[in-house]
Amino acid sequence: CLTMVTDVDRSDRTADEIFADVLTPQGRSQMGALYTELHGLGEFHRSRLVGRLVTGYRAADAVLRHPAARRNRPDGRSILPRVEEHSSRRLIGRTMLMVDPPDHTRLRRLVSKAFTPRSVTGLAPAITELLTSQMDDLAERAADGAVVDLMAGLAFRLPVAVIGRMLGVPAAEQPGFQQMVRDLNAVVEPLADSGDLSAADVAADALEAYFKDLVRERRTRPCEDLTSALISARDDDDRLSENELVATLVQLFTAGFETTTNLIGNGMLALLENPDQLAALRADPSMMASAVEEMLRYDSPVQASSRVTSAEIVLPDGTIVPENRFLLVVLGAANHDPRVFTEPQRLILRRAEAPPLSFGNGIHYCLGAGLARLEARMVFTELLRRFHTIELAGPPERQAFMTIWGLSRLPLRME
Ligand code: HEM
Repeated sequence: CLTMVTDVDRSDRTADEIFADVLTPQGRSQMGALYTELHGLGEFHRSRLVGRLVTGYRAADAVLRHPAARRNRPDGRSILPRVEEHSSRRLIGRTMLMVDPPDHTRLRRLVSKAFTPRSVTGLAPAITELLTSQMDDLAERAADGAVVDLMAGLAFRLPVAVIGRMLGVPAAEQPGFQQMVRDLNAVVEPLADSGDLSAADVAADALEAYFKDLVRERRTRPCEDLTSALISARDDDDRLSENELVATLVQLFTAGFETTTNLIGNGMLALLENPDQLAALRADPSMMASAVEEMLRYDSPVQASSRVTSAEIVLPDGTIVPENRFLLVVLGAANHDPRVFTEPQRLILRRAEAPPLSFGNGIHYCLGAGLARLEARMVFTELLRRFHTIELAGPPERQAFMTIWGLSRLPLRME
């Protein structure tokens, strides 16, 4: 009874008031509590701020899988606002992430082969090699109790090295991309301001120029990499325009690391804040697969995704959403829905309830989910094997954006 009274008290605030807090730097530090407050109001909310907010797990899952929940408005305009003014939005707007069938089907089919379970398993030896050398560096720097930043030392380095190697981006050039990719993330941020978008445009132009050059080079000297494979798919039967080819390469490169970086950073922080769970994982590393699923749920590296309705749709609870309505699907909130997850604010590494929606669902379900899971499992297995003690050595620092959700610094002491 007491809990119910508290819930009623909290629901005095509207969904917009609560979500406005989520979008402030201070509010974001209490995201879990704010999501709980939103759940008290239902699964779906009208919002003056962003159109409509979908926060319930069942509603979010239904929207993500609905054929009439799309990326482009019924009149063909992109869901991304003011596309013509921003080169970053034009670039992302050409990727499979932002287009609808039949273009989506064609673009996704061309790259799917590189991400089948078999292809991903085949990457394990290369990941082991990269991980071993990066862990050696980290161990060396962490010697004698020195403080190391897990984000710079590993969480960023490994995913960029893996996707960089797949695409043929030389290792020496990879560190230069970190800030560019961070800047480009503004493109999917609901309330990015004009300064953020200008920085995203500069980053998009630089990434586009870089991959245009890489394509030019690989056309003369093909290698055994995904860039060369995509060029030959394009040149053989012209199923991919030159613009689409470059946009696809930029997307694979950028989608491939900041998100996995955040899974490693958010996951490590979650373990450190829940020492009983960290100890349980050390005692039984065979639960690594479910542990990584729980990390994905508990502090999701991508918090939101947007859609627009091309026809009226009906949600599982009977809510009717008319045609041409913008929907912000809050994946992070759905993953904390108390109607689906018991004690959603607790990290329970053996949890086996519904699959988290952290990789989305439906036709845009993350193409790199298998790769991200493999990298995270390998990273946590190796971190726990090499270091008996891992402790926070200072306050972690959060990045500013909410959609791509992660840390910029995680200072640790490791022995
Ligand atoms: C799509 C999350 C890693 C490539 C998505 C979507 C989410 C997501 C939520 C769907 C977005 C939507 O429906 O609006 C994540 C997370 C990752 C991760 C949390 C790491 C923990 C990767 C990696 C790659 C990748 C490693 C590739 C190397 C893609 C691509 C799409 C996508 C290509 C677009 C798929 C489509 O539109 O059909 N990702 N991702 N992602 N992701 Fe990931």
